[in-house]
Amino acid sequence: MLIVGCGYVGRRVAALHLARGEPVVGLVRSAASAQALEREGIAAIGTDLDGSPADLPTRGERVYYFAPPPESGTTDPRLAAFLAGLARSGQPRRIVYIGTTGIYGDCHGEWVDESRPANPSVDRAHRRWDAECRLRDWSATTGGELVVLRVAGIYGPGRLPLDRLRRGLPMVPEDEAPWTNRIHADDLAAVCVAAMDRAPSGAVYNVSDGHPGNMADYFNRVADLAGLPRPPVIRLADADGRLSEGLLSYLRESRRLDNRRMLHELGVALRYPTLYAGLPACLAGDHRGTEPA
Ligand SMILES: NC(=O)c1ccc[n+]([C@@H]2O[C@H](COP(=O)([O-])OP(=O)(O)OC[C@H]3O[C@@H](n4cnc5c(N)ncnc54)[C@H](OP(=O)(O)O)[C@@H]3O)[C@@H](O)[C@H]2O)c1
Repeated sequence: MLIVGCGYVGRRVAALHLARGEPVVGLVRSAASAQALEREGIAAIGTDLDGSPADLPTRGERVYYFAPPPESGTTDPRLAAFLAGLARSGQPRRIVYIGTTGIYGDCHGEWVDESRPANPSVDRAHRRWDAECRLRDWSATTGGELVVLRVAGIYGPGRLPLDRLRRGLPMVPEDEAPWTNRIHADDLAAVCVAAMDRAPSGAVYNVSDGHPGNMADYFNRVADLAGLPRPPVIRLADADGRLSEGLLSYLRESRRLDNRRMLHELGVALRYPTLYAGLPACLAGDHRGTEPA
């Protein structure tokens, strides 16, 4: 079992496999992350996928690919290099890939299932669509099994927008805020393992808790639970220059994710089926929020 990009989500997935007695190898870029993996019983490979990575233990293996694309451009050369390297290191039996729901683009608040055509608009989404297409080509060419997870906003302990709230950064009012979709990191890890265990090859799943909420309400809820002031409100028309381009790009897209295929085909019972079920536990254990949004 190899987890490429064994970070916040990967370590949770690794823990589930280790608990079943299955050894896990985690690939990370930095020495500090490699040491952290070793402390958790995960055999670590520290290598930069953007350089000339060493031969990886991929032949006949089950591989999770969780490394993000680079931060600019419209393609994912990091994934392309990984796939090219497989010709040398050996083709995996199955790849489970975490992508994003950004590939759907703006859906004007409509419910979106996996049959919705991709319509990426921002570069971030184009990179993810490029990755999905490359993986499908890989699967068609090599016969390797592929499962694509289109994942909503990940939250969990240490992954809440607390820094942003502490800095008093503004947010748009609820009547201008788009729909937002979330998944707790522990539930996402369980979905990843279920996808590795029993998803049919070629399957694509929306991964969210199925209870979309309003983005302004999300920030307010987190603030209330953390005992922090709610963000000051500004109208969207006044937001240019006051909100980051990254956040503005999220505010310009609205969709509600249909997660029924994930629930029915993978048979996952979500531990946190709503944000309101999941948030208190995140704050009880950890107040360090680092989520950039
Ligand atoms: N945040 C969200 O709401 C969200 C939503 C949907 C999907 N996703 C995606 O879900 C995936 C997993 O997320 P996560 O929170 O677990 O990410 P994370 O904690 O940032 O972990 C990413 C891992 O990838 C490794 N990595 C990055 N660049 C690398 C490179 N050039 N060479 C080798 N390793 C590299 C990092 O290693 P180091 O630790 O050494 O840097 C880290 O272990 C990511 O692709 C993320 O973009 C996120």
